[in-house]
Amino acid sequence: MSTSPEVAAKQAGREFKRIVYSEEEIQDRVAEMAREITDAYEPGDEILVLGLLKGSFIFMADLVRSIHHPLQLDFLVASSYGNATESSGEVRLLYDPEASLEGRSVILVEDIIDSGTTLNRLIPLLEARGPKSLEVCALLHKRVATLDREVRWVGFDAPLEFLVGYGLDYSENYRHLPFIGSI
Ligand code: IMP
Ligand code: MG
Repeated sequence: MSTSPEVAAKQAGREFKRIVYSEEEIQDRVAEMAREITDAYEPGDEILVLGLLKGSFIFMADLVRSIHHPLQLDFLVASSYGNATESSGEVRLLYDPEASLEGRSVILVEDIIDSGTTLNRLIPLLEARGPKSLEVCALLHKRVATLDREVRWVGFDAPLEFLVGYGLDYSENYRHLPFIGSI
């Protein structure tokens, strides 16, 4: 796979198997999702956008800039107990949003849904805080998870490959790539 010197400098010598979503494809789809979200709420409705760190930070930054509603932002950090390869199914909040969810229209932003464990554990925690509505928006969905709740907005149905870039990492690397590739 040939890449520009700018991109090669970010890859630390690693060749990707392929580019799965180009920068342009991502930008087009994210703009479209922002339009769908804009249309889903009444004009003037305020939205609280909650980003699940770290993977969602670039997606969220692009998304919110094209949502035409008043909105507030916050983040949360969730972590599964145990190591990365073996999920115990437990999820705890390492950083809890400061914003109150009570009575608000909340959108939870995820980078990618794989097993769905994170989401299945997180939704009840957030629902317990009494939001007016709680929707999930994910850039990528591998469509292998059994989810207790459907995801309202999905950017792309992702292939069953390990994806990096545009926020997604492999050992904290590659988050700053403007495209998504598989390794
Ligand atoms: P889940 O709980 O199995 O749905 O895991 C979701 C989390 O796993 C995502 O938020 C990512 O941080 C990580 N993840 C899952 N698949 C990938 C991938 O292909 N590349 C990078 N991170 C991934
Ligand atoms: Mg991750």
